[in-house]
Amino acid sequence: MNEKENNIGPGEIIRKKREFLIPCVYHFYQEPMQIVRGEGHYLFDHQGKRYLDFYGGVSVLNAGHCHPEITDKICQQVKTLQHTTTIYLTQPIVDLAEKVSQIAPGNLKKSFFCASGSEANEGALLLSQLSTKKHEFLALTHGLHGRTKLTMSVTGLKFWRTDSHPVGGISFVPNAYCYRCVFNRTYPDCDIECAKQIENVIETSTSGEVAALIIEPIQGNGGIITPPREYFTTMKEILDRYGILLIVDEIQTGFGRTGKMFAIEHMGVEPDIMTFAKSIANGTPVGGFITNDDIASSYTRPGASTFGGNPVTSVAALATLEVIEKYGLTQNAKTVGAYLTDSLQNLQEKHPILGDVRGRGLMVGAELVGSEKAPATQETDLILEYMKERGVLIGKTGAARNVLAFQPSLIINEDNIDELIDALDDALSHVEKQQK
Ligand SMILES: Cc1ncc(COP(=O)(O)O)c(C=O)c1O
Repeated sequence: MNEKENNIGPGEIIRKKREFLIPCVYHFYQEPMQIVRGEGHYLFDHQGKRYLDFYGGVSVLNAGHCHPEITDKICQQVKTLQHTTTIYLTQPIVDLAEKVSQIAPGNLKKSFFCASGSEANEGALLLSQLSTKKHEFLALTHGLHGRTKLTMSVTGLKFWRTDSHPVGGISFVPNAYCYRCVFNRTYPDCDIECAKQIENVIETSTSGEVAALIIEPIQGNGGIITPPREYFTTMKEILDRYGILLIVDEIQTGFGRTGKMFAIEHMGVEPDIMTFAKSIANGTPVGGFITNDDIASSYTRPGASTFGGNPVTSVAALATLEVIEKYGLTQNAKTVGAYLTDSLQNLQEKHPILGDVRGRGLMVGAELVGSEKAPATQETDLILEYMKERGVLIGKTGAARNVLAFQPSLIINEDNIDELIDALDDALSHVEKQQK
């Protein structure tokens, strides 16, 4: 295939972006490339250059780009029946709901489908209000839950809180950011003070009428912040005492990425409501939330999403889940992910700028710091640029935008990790030389 044909090129794309897209739609890299094709864990640009993709469309392409078994099923469905909405009966939506209930943790059973993660969280928050008949929310510092009014209001990162008049009745509780503990404590001697603070926040910052706490089990945009298990068990004990529901946002962490089907399964607690999107359909737009019979029974007034449960996207999701199970991608995420973490930790010995390596499975972050843990934000940008030139794409995240994010397709292997680490080793040396 000739990648160079019929492409307008990066310069013209940027010109059209400036002219026709709202400027909030930003892109990575000083000299970005035009991506024209994806295959497995590789992307190709308009000049035919190949990139090892370690960001997977921001945690979306768990089965790899354009997986043939998923693509074939999507094409077949597009040719057969593309759209009806839920006012007519179709089979893919119920097959998908059944499948999600089989893989979901605990007694989560009934789903609602929509088209994005923001919508999924918005719906889950509403459901918690309907079920508890209470209206306030708790959320975690450094969390991110979406771009809509309410989901932005429960987002705990200034970078993503564009709205300066957020929804009221939301209180933030401390997350377990052990590398930068707000209480200056050290795990495990800290007694999980951060989780205990939830009770203090409920008692001092709310009216007591709290419907739910929304959390990510590993905070993606916050900087791959990975709390210890006791954080969740302590949190759940407090929530249960106050009759507050736990909404777990698995939008980045779900569908095998962390070495279990859902990241919350590592943490010893069960969600009351769980939300998902991103990787469930490997790049076609599906979002949703799932809950137990009891909570579901509170949502009886009509609720429709035009694209929710669409035959094409539902078939894409079913095919994706089949591929994840058939090829053991969850197990691969666990073993290859452990190799990635070990390899990054080995690099830490040589490069002190790698302040902290954290994560689970193939959701791994490396926080870059200078002296006294000062966020190395500029260096993070330089490393991304250098890696791109070397043909490796990685992400950046974190409140100070100083965390390298590695969230590739779950099909990658140890050779791919070696290639990444080689390039990163050189990138870090390059940045260190510039610092001198
Ligand atoms: C954890 C989490 N929740 C929600 C969202 C919002 O999802 P969407 O962009 O599909 O609306 C994101 C997006 O990055 C996310 O990472």
